[in-house]
Amino acid sequence: AHLQPQMDESSILRRADCRAKGGSPGFKVAILGAAGGIGQPLAMLMKMNPLVSVLHLYDVVNSPGVTADLSHMDTGAVVRGFLGQPQLESALTGMDLVIIPAGVPRKPGMTRDDLFNINAGIVKTLCEGVAKCCPNAIVNLISNPVNSTVPIAAEVFKKAGTYDPKRLLGVTTLDVVRANTFVAEVLGLDPREVNVPVVGGHSGVTILPLLSQVKPPSSFTPEETEYLTNRIQNGGTEVVEAKAGAGSATLSMAYAAVKFADACLRGLRGDAGVMECAFVASEVTELPFFATKVRLGRTGAEEVYQLGPLNEYERVGLEKAKEELAGSIQKGIAFIKK
Ligand code: NAD
Ligand code: LMR
Repeated sequence: AHLQPQMDESSILRRADCRAKGGSPGFKVAILGAAGGIGQPLAMLMKMNPLVSVLHLYDVVNSPGVTADLSHMDTGAVVRGFLGQPQLESALTGMDLVIIPAGVPRKPGMTRDDLFNINAGIVKTLCEGVAKCCPNAIVNLISNPVNSTVPIAAEVFKKAGTYDPKRLLGVTTLDVVRANTFVAEVLGLDPREVNVPVVGGHSGVTILPLLSQVKPPSSFTPEETEYLTNRIQNGGTEVVEAKAGAGSATLSMAYAAVKFADACLRGLRGDAGVMECAFVASEVTELPFFATKVRLGRTGAEEVYQLGPLNEYERVGLEKAKEELAGSIQKGIAFIKK
């Protein structure tokens, strides 16, 4: 069913076996929406990831071309393409990790919630496929509005009887990546040395950077705190406006998605101490979902960390974040329950 007839099953298995002998576990990863602005660079970076043995690229358009192109790269992962709904099940069967950047992006003047009407249905269909074909896979959900699409996915999995909260992760890594970059600029540091926890959700005021917990320990003036918080919360809009109708962040998002997916795969492999922020089922606040630091292990988000000490500015921000998040989560749940 796949689009690479020159690579038969036995040669794929030989390559996977060869990798196993080399000590690499070789995970199977699917990207849904793989021909899109995020999907293409994400697929390229995953093709370069040594933890990936098989890479399935699914889209409703253009996946054959992207697959042919990437399949010429002399890296270990075997790439196969899948086009359109009839091939969704083949794309998903046997996958360890499913990354979902399918859906429409924003144009200037839109909020992420304006994408709900189109993207909710796309996420629902794709997650029904996951529930049927790879119910034990880890899911990295990128499609916006993440604050609603993660609750939608959870409800789809609950309905199918496959829901495991540890395996469903909304990707908020881009907020952390931006926060690290902008904070490093203010501190005059290399961004690779900076780590900023960003909690809450992935939209406007729900994006809550915890500047009081920045590593290395740093202090900020009230003006710096205000500037950094606003810039981090509006990072997505900054890119949407600069692209002026041609879409939203794709390259930095692909980088962030791979950073997060790689952490998930290292967790699956059994590495110790793999920590990332993600939007997950949570008991940290009274809301059913919340982004905080999580520990990624063999079964997904094995530990969800508390917020830690907040300063007054962050406590005020947390209340605003929770208020908006509550509505977005409810909207997602209602979409499936209606
Ligand atoms: P894009 O339009 O360039 O690509 C989307 C791809 O999804 C297209 O190739 C399209 O054919 C495909 N698609 C549409 N319906 C599909 C379906 N039913 N099944 C499979 N594929 C389908 O958009 P993009 O810039 O790649 O953004 C994708 C999504 O990611 C948007 O919703 C955007 O808002 C979101 N996003 C999230 C973050 C984040 O931090 N979580 C960051 C950036 C963008
Ligand atoms: C982002 O943060 O860049 C994405 O959520 C895309 C957007 O619409 O801003």
